[in-house]
Amino acid sequence: MLVNGKEMRSLWFEDGCLKLIDQRKLPAKLEIFEAKSVEEVAYAIKEMVVRGAPAIGCAAVYGMAMAKDARKAAEILRNTRPTAHDLFYAIDYMLKKIEEGEDAIKSADAYVESIIEKCRKIGENGKKIIPKNARILTHCNAGALATVDYGTALAPIRMAKDRNIFVWVDETRPRLQGLLTAWELEQEGIDYAIIADNAAGYFMKKGEIDLVIVGADRIAKNYDVANKIGTYEKAVLAKENEIPFYVAAPLSTFDESIENGDEIEIEERSEEEVMNIYPWKPKKARNPAFDVTPARYITGIITEEGIIKLDNK
Ligand code: MRU
Repeated sequence: MLVNGKEMRSLWFEDGCLKLIDQRKLPAKLEIFEAKSVEEVAYAIKEMVVRGAPAIGCAAVYGMAMAKDARKAAEILRNTRPTAHDLFYAIDYMLKKIEEGEDAIKSADAYVESIIEKCRKIGENGKKIIPKNARILTHCNAGALATVDYGTALAPIRMAKDRNIFVWVDETRPRLQGLLTAWELEQEGIDYAIIADNAAGYFMKKGEIDLVIVGADRIAKNYDVANKIGTYEKAVLAKENEIPFYVAAPLSTFDESIENGDEIEIEERSEEEVMNIYPWKPKKARNPAFDVTPARYITGIITEEGIIKLDNK
């Protein structure tokens, strides 16, 4: 991804330490967080220094590589965030490599390179569905920050940037990941406007949104998709307004062990995340971090191997 005109990744391993762009500080400040142990990597995932399904998997592989006891490290990392399948996929990958006696750092590097390549291919495959002058809505941040490079939902958008496209960016309360998307788009010189989460239906109804592309945290066997809270309502609105709704995700996000979205564990985060902008403290808040979009609302899923057409539009 471009950061101030130079190529950069959202995380990398250097001098025995995992370096992460601190996503809690962006876009206001570009700061690098250093994690030197599996406990520090687990902290970074839980506190969302690093976030986005593929990126937390990529952070986890280095957490595993730095640990002395792989089984214990796996346990610590599994207990950070429950919803993103990539995290569990990455941990299992490293357990296998370590048990086979492979070099842990080299295996972690190879994992990250493979995720980047998968995202590049998602971009190549996904740009086919983006017509000239398209006005695309996205939710949360499924960009390079969330995947090390390219992104999932943002990969096709990056690759279609010479088609005079425009991106509608949902703000994405309560953590405001939309600001991260806006920052990435600005770095790439792609035109966009950020909107309050509840404004998407208004613009759909006015005919100002041609296409929706979002990322995914876990995809069930029947193609139900867990993604950032608010995705479900965007999908329902898209169907009502006859707007194609695409999900972009690498195959590492697909969970073959579950039949449908009801089986996906949804992370519930602290009520402070919802209330911290209020001038007064209500008695209670709820803060589910994800929701599940049933497959019937999804037009297609863009993967590194092609587009799975669900033919719902
Ligand atoms: O809570 P977050 O910010 O980790 O949630 C991220 C999302 O929901 C993304 O859309 C998803 O992980 C796909 S990232 C390529």
